[in-house]
Amino acid sequence: MKIAEPLDVLHSKEALATRIAELGAQIAKDYAGKELVLVCVLKGATLFFADLVRAIDLPLSIDFIGLSSYGEATESSGVVKITSDLTKPIQGKHVLVIEDIVDTGLTMRYLLDNLATRHPASAKICALLHKPARARTKIDIDYLGFTIPDLFVVGYGLDYGEKMRNVPFIGVMKPGGVK
Ligand code: IMP
Ligand code: MG
Repeated sequence: MKIAEPLDVLHSKEALATRIAELGAQIAKDYAGKELVLVCVLKGATLFFADLVRAIDLPLSIDFIGLSSYGEATESSGVVKITSDLTKPIQGKHVLVIEDIVDTGLTMRYLLDNLATRHPASAKICALLHKPARARTKIDIDYLGFTIPDLFVVGYGLDYGEKMRNVPFIGVMKPGGVK
């Protein structure tokens, strides 16, 4: 893929598929018999979400929430805004938030606090990636794909200035690669 030329592969398409199948099986086991709502955090989690829902063999519903964090392209400020809200109430439901990456954790902290005011039966997090080196608040990730080093990653939904989301693997810029 031409757009992926400046990237080194951190987690391949195959590695992502294998891990997502494992996460899906674990989630299906843990939520059996419960009313589960999977909430996709736009836009970064969309590709992960689409693959993960198909790996969960349970009746479930899906919803979407748009969050934006003010700050530089590669740095979260902690000031978060809901740009597009859930379409349905979550009161009494078991909510599993699906996120692309937990970096400083500030976005997830804001979202969990916000969801708690809507009285779900439970609210847990499933994140594809976690960069613990940059944590600024403690977030318990209930289901985690991969822990990664302190690198800016792109692809599989994650962007750099809104580009690269359609790269089919998780990549890192090659040294000297043009951003
Ligand atoms: P946090 O609030 O710092 O945890 O950041 C969360 C959001 O920042 C993620 O949902 C991503 O949209 C974005 N982000 C953090 N690290 C990266 C990265 O390495 N690549 C692309 N986006 C990132
Ligand atoms: Mg995001």
